[in-house]
Amino acid sequence: MDINQASEAFRVLLQEQLTRLEKMNCEKTDFTKKDVITIGVIDGDGIGPIITQHATRVLENLLADKIAAGKIVLKKIEGLTLQNRLAQGKPIPDDVLANIKTCDVLLKGPTETPMGGTLESANVTMRRELDLYANVRPVCIPEKNIDWIFYRENTEGEYVLGSRGVELPGMAVDFKVITDLGTRRIARAAFEYARQNGKTHLSVVTKANIMKKTDGKFTAICHEIAKDYPEITVEDYYIDIMTANLLIEGFREKFQVFVLPNLYGDILTDEAAQIQGGVGTAGSANIGDRYAMFEAIHGSAPRLIAAGLGDYANPTSILKAAAMLLRHICCTAEAEKLEAALEKCPVKVTGDRDGATCAQFADALMQIL
Ligand code: IPM
Ligand code: MG
Repeated sequence: MDINQASEAFRVLLQEQLTRLEKMNCEKTDFTKKDVITIGVIDGDGIGPIITQHATRVLENLLADKIAAGKIVLKKIEGLTLQNRLAQGKPIPDDVLANIKTCDVLLKGPTETPMGGTLESANVTMRRELDLYANVRPVCIPEKNIDWIFYRENTEGEYVLGSRGVELPGMAVDFKVITDLGTRRIARAAFEYARQNGKTHLSVVTKANIMKKTDGKFTAICHEIAKDYPEITVEDYYIDIMTANLLIEGFREKFQVFVLPNLYGDILTDEAAQIQGGVGTAGSANIGDRYAMFEAIHGSAPRLIAAGLGDYANPTSILKAAAMLLRHICCTAEAEKLEAALEKCPVKVTGDRDGATCAQFADALMQIL
């Protein structure tokens, strides 16, 4: 590209983003009013099919009555594999996306994204296509007095045009987008969660001293929304110091709710999950007004597969995601049952032969259920 072509590419991107903004805003699905709720199940790559299979068994067990009564349908969505995505040259092939859109909520195994190249991450595409703007990630360690929940903006920031940067000779440029509407809805979701759950502290995490326009806007809008929630103390932190703060015992316990732009949320939630016991232990919800997708916070673990250890993958993360899914569709009793069983389950999965297999863990869990 030369500078004129790059400018033209940038003009097109800006236009597309304005169009996206115009289409934002849709009515929220009310699950209490739905006769039939369809849960789509997507295997994903690597350890995905293994952990998803066992999570599905657990869901079938918990929802047996509702499935038998036709109130809940579990629907397997095929074709979201790296092989098929590469063959079709699309992060989510059209027929797969159409199938996904027939569901209300999704339980998804991790999908692999090749480094470099042009294939966009299936996750990023799905979050955008289904407008799943709130990435909600709880991290809870009762014995350490830690009870955090992260509201990561999930459709904008560094991700929305992450595969659409421009390259000029000797130079590469990516774009970051933050919008008023996009920030308002994630901030509103975080503050509403805080209010409804009796939380009194909310941290806005950015790098607004450097990313002045985008993070500056994010911070300003969060404070605008905060005016509606006078009972909640709001503090601003920069992402770098927040990564340090999460490690400071005696200080980190005060944090409750976090709201942050996409990339910082990606990074900080892996750190938080690690503090909880590893990325295998945290669930992740991707919530929009119409659709929602629930997944493990971790990736497809190709190294585990290469070592022949796929069966030893830890399903805790996707099971926590399944519990969040149940709560989202108003199956609160089933969600609580699953969460309690996860707490109690004595079987330890280590990701290696010294621990239990994924199947053994799921069996033990269902004994408790
Ligand atoms: C996550 C993952 C994804 C992300 C990848 C798989 C695209 O790391 O959900 O945190 O970067 O958002
Ligand atoms: Mg991540």
